[in-house]
Amino acid sequence: MSRLLTVSNRLPLSVTKKGGQLSYVPSVGGLATGLGSFYKSRPSAWVGWPGIPSGRIGDAESKDIGKRLACENCHPVFLSRYELENYYHGFANRTIWPLFHYFPLYAKYETSYWNVYQRVNEKFRDAVLDIAEVGDEIWVHDYHLMLLPRLIREVRPEAAVGFFLHVPFPSSEIFRLLPWREEILQGLMGADLIGFHTHGYVHHFVSAARNILGHEYADGEIAAGNRVVKVDAFPMGIDFERWATAGEDEAVQKEAAKAAKQLRGRKIILSVDRLDYTKGIPERLEAFELFLQNNPQYWGTVTLIMVAVPSRTVVETYARLKKHVDELVGRINGEFGTVGWVPIWYLYRSLPFHTLAAFYQLADVALVTPLRDGMNLIAKEFCATKGGGRGVLILSELTGAAQELGEALLVNPNNKEEIAAALADALAMPEEDQGRRAEAICRRLRRYDVTRWAEEFVRELKQTKKEQSELATRRLPARAREKIVRDYRAAAKRLLLLDYDGTLVLFTRRPEHAKPDGELLRLLAALARDEKNEVVVMSGRERETLQEWLGALALSFIADHGAWVKEGGKDWLLIEPLRDDWKIRIGHIIERYADRTPGAHVEEKNFSLALHYRAAAPELAAMRIAELKEDLYHETANLNLEILEGNRVIEVRNAGVNKGRASLRFLDNEPWDFILAIGDGRTDEDVFAVLPDDAYSIKVRLEPSHARFNLASVADVRALLKELAR
Ligand code: UDP
Ligand code: G6P
Repeated sequence: MSRLLTVSNRLPLSVTKKGGQLSYVPSVGGLATGLGSFYKSRPSAWVGWPGIPSGRIGDAESKDIGKRLACENCHPVFLSRYELENYYHGFANRTIWPLFHYFPLYAKYETSYWNVYQRVNEKFRDAVLDIAEVGDEIWVHDYHLMLLPRLIREVRPEAAVGFFLHVPFPSSEIFRLLPWREEILQGLMGADLIGFHTHGYVHHFVSAARNILGHEYADGEIAAGNRVVKVDAFPMGIDFERWATAGEDEAVQKEAAKAAKQLRGRKIILSVDRLDYTKGIPERLEAFELFLQNNPQYWGTVTLIMVAVPSRTVVETYARLKKHVDELVGRINGEFGTVGWVPIWYLYRSLPFHTLAAFYQLADVALVTPLRDGMNLIAKEFCATKGGGRGVLILSELTGAAQELGEALLVNPNNKEEIAAALADALAMPEEDQGRRAEAICRRLRRYDVTRWAEEFVRELKQTKKEQSELATRRLPARAREKIVRDYRAAAKRLLLLDYDGTLVLFTRRPEHAKPDGELLRLLAALARDEKNEVVVMSGRERETLQEWLGALALSFIADHGAWVKEGGKDWLLIEPLRDDWKIRIGHIIERYADRTPGAHVEEKNFSLALHYRAAAPELAAMRIAELKEDLYHETANLNLEILEGNRVIEVRNAGVNKGRASLRFLDNEPWDFILAIGDGRTDEDVFAVLPDDAYSIKVRLEPSHARFNLASVADVRALLKELAR
């Protein structure tokens, strides 16, 4: 089994120092608790911060920490106070955390945070590369390390790198507020596979990648330049068995008995979170207050156990929240409490497993109402501990977990009346009903537990790598390249069929901007000057444009997708009599769509009409094009027309006219000793399909094709042609 290198800001163990003494405690938070058990089950290593600033420990202590953590296969990245302030408290928790949880007003945009965030990501890269071996899968976690995939890729282009985001990926309208949005997306694009908890987050991420980086997306894959990045939803599970069997644990039983005695048969509502403003704690307390006001029959007979785990306490928004929650708890306890009854048991500390499990066991209701939460494991752990028995989960719709736990009582966390009513419903719910809901939830949690979650992610990462290497074998290998050059030199009659856009020049936002540059003109001139060569530039463009841009060179042309050809010094020739009387009617339809798609424009050619949408918002364009296609299929049914989809262009033209057919005029002309066709689009596939077996054909971009070989980019095409022209 290959080794898994887990990389996250926090290690599963945190070091603390009291009275000069170091101790090690399990880290709190969904990432550490969720992955902690999986990583022990296989060959792994974990790289992360040990939870203590480097200034608080001496050299000897950091060595000790390194040794102790190594026993758990953990490798510490030590961070100074300054680094922690700017990277962890700063960029991670004052910029990204609030922004990604839809609190844009809390987000601070400080250049110093950003600078240190970059530097610390580099520090993590160095730590990873120190221990990474060939064949390891590297799995980077969460918003602290979003630059790391690319940093690793730059040094190890072949590495298998996965990334998982444990927080929501916000709508692109929110994400675009970030001054460093491009850099963050580019950083993530270094991964082979990017995972999110829900499809909603995947959708938001894809639209950010499209709108901000202009990357195409189809079938779970983002085309990021020369690489393909897979994205998918993997809802994180929990260590089901551990929670489901917690009741058999003696320590848990003891804790439960102790608490039950103190609670004296009261109904228990349980609330557990890190003390974080995303968790909706004040709103939850106010909803509980409203519940007490509306339901005096529960006075004295119900207790809210509220566990708030101290978290990120130096960040101001957290400190303010702490004060607010203290006051609210005081107010409610003061308002409703009696000598024998404290309505809210407020515990501001982290609980060990057995106490937490005991609370889950005792609770009648779990009240989990974050305003936003990437997943929320508390909700799942509660259900698993109940093992399908008594207990009701009230869950915020705005958690990732709500997508899976539909049997819970789902509430809007901002709607106090709804939460108060759900509490009353939950406490009055017949046991049979409780069991039915809990069983369905448990079945799912058992099946898709944390091991399954992690295994599926790693399997998908391996599969992605395999597909990449299959595609890479299509890339023109050095030996084949040498043979092409040799055969070219040896040949007396050569035919070169070269597509224009996307092959000889890069795409631009508007087609008229893709004029040939000096380098290309010189290159084509050099090829055309050689008497042994017939160089055909083939394009979907109009003949007038090709004539204007390239007419001065001794080239041949295929224009308008094959409607027109021009051989050597001869005149332009229409390949067959074609009709164009359909253009008015179809033109109206296409224009109607263009008018409603800002950035799109219609191009009228002699025998075709094209709608270009490269400059339009990708999602809107996708929707419009789908509708337009339907209209066009309907309208063109009896017209002997064809609808052709190119690279961000849709075109209607006469059927049977294509570059393949047009290229036959050249192919059939002579007995060629050497034929080479290069193209990037679907229309070039028609050419590849009609070539004789011994011809060379190259598809630009690493995608499946009829061509024999692939090259990755326009630059690669030019480099090959330069070598031929030399
Ligand atoms: N947790 C814990 N001790 C506590 C409270 C919580 O170990 O006193 C753990 C809990 O078991 C859960 C995690 O912290 O696994 C919280 O994860 P969740 O996804 O709910 O929220 P996050 O803290 O990641 O935002
Ligand atoms: C969330 C984040 C984790 C983080 C945890 C605890 O679950 O997604 O990456 O570890 O909160 O926060 P902390 O800042 O204490 O690591």
